[in-house]
Amino acid sequence: MREDQGLVLTLTDKFGRAITDLRIAVTDHCNYRCVYCRTGNEGPLYADLPFSDYLRMARIFAGLGIKKIRLTGGEPLLRRGVVDFVRQLSILRSSDGQPLDLAMTSNGHLLAELAAPLKQAGLDRITVSMDAVDPDRFSRITRVARGFDSVLAGIRAAKRVGLAPVKVNCVLMRGFNEDQIVPFGRFARAEGVVVRFIEFMPLEEGRVWSPDVVVKLEEILGRMMEFRPLVEIPRARSETARRYVFDDGIGEIGIIAPVSHPFCGQCSRIRITSDGKIRTCLFSVWEHDLHELMRRGASDEQLADFIRTVVISKEARHHIGEPDFLPASRTMVHIGG
Ligand code: GTP
Ligand code: 5AD
Ligand code: SF4
Repeated sequence: MREDQGLVLTLTDKFGRAITDLRIAVTDHCNYRCVYCRTGNEGPLYADLPFSDYLRMARIFAGLGIKKIRLTGGEPLLRRGVVDFVRQLSILRSSDGQPLDLAMTSNGHLLAELAAPLKQAGLDRITVSMDAVDPDRFSRITRVARGFDSVLAGIRAAKRVGLAPVKVNCVLMRGFNEDQIVPFGRFARAEGVVVRFIEFMPLEEGRVWSPDVVVKLEEILGRMMEFRPLVEIPRARSETARRYVFDDGIGEIGIIAPVSHPFCGQCSRIRITSDGKIRTCLFSVWEHDLHELMRRGASDEQLADFIRTVVISKEARHHIGEPDFLPASRTMVHIGG
């Protein structure tokens, strides 16, 4: 156990929130163009860093008390060498001496072949984005012609190799997929995966967000309850999703409701962009350039001091739907979720 003046190290912001959850975007390239995320065109891209740079950052964060690392993108599986990177991360320990919880968020397109190597390299679990269980609807949302079968094969492969629990993220948008709620209930039961519905947030490139497009928690619950009763089950304090199981115990559903029921007061998250900037909130309007410090030759201790200072400045909350809302300085494809 690494200790500092008798205490296990943890990062804490000025509101007393413990920051234990780091997300690293390893690229902002993506092979999909989901309507809630991107425009139909190729937008600007930021540089990716060598994995050795992300690894150094991860090691320093782990030493400061980070317990969970989630790899995101863009699409992380597009990045060559990602399996080896997972293997290197799996050796790291948090400041309490425990191994990290290693997770990934992927669109699942390349997962069928990579699930087994990822598991073998030490990935614990995976979340796959899938916004419709109907192939045509899936294509309309992702704007790729034949992705559905690949993603389904990826989800099944992840389940088979034990990247558990496999979670499926579905961003709901009125007019696109709110009629998929009940089919997703059936899907969760049949496939044995956790399906999580997410309220659409204004983080997209296309500026299509409006309050009317958001399908809110109460509506999701209402529609699902008409199919079959759900029972709420306990969740961890900093967890984003409210959790439910169907009344016969078969099938878990989650609802992530940052718009109608914000959870900023319990936020434990911090993010590194693919070009090595720290984002203290999804909705940050400025970033903190960790990579630039590294490039200038800062020591591990100097980088750790920088991280501690940055964490203190973490935003209290988002301002979605309020008159003073300022759009984030990057869109979701460059942040990673
Ligand atoms: P764990 O399994 O607990 O690790 O959760 P998860 O990481 O599978 O997924 P997570 O809850 O991190 O993220 C799912 C989705 O919730 C993201 O894609 C975002 O849409 C949303 N989300 C995640 N973190 C935040 C956050 O800090 N703020 C807001 N507003 N939304 C978030
Ligand atoms: N609002 C809510 N969730 C989003 N995601 C992407 N864009 C948005 C948005 N505008 C989620 C997707 C994906 C994860 C990376 O982020 O579910 O799984
Ligand atoms: Fe945390 Fe910002 Fe998300 Fe709120 S909006 S939960 S503060 S990252």
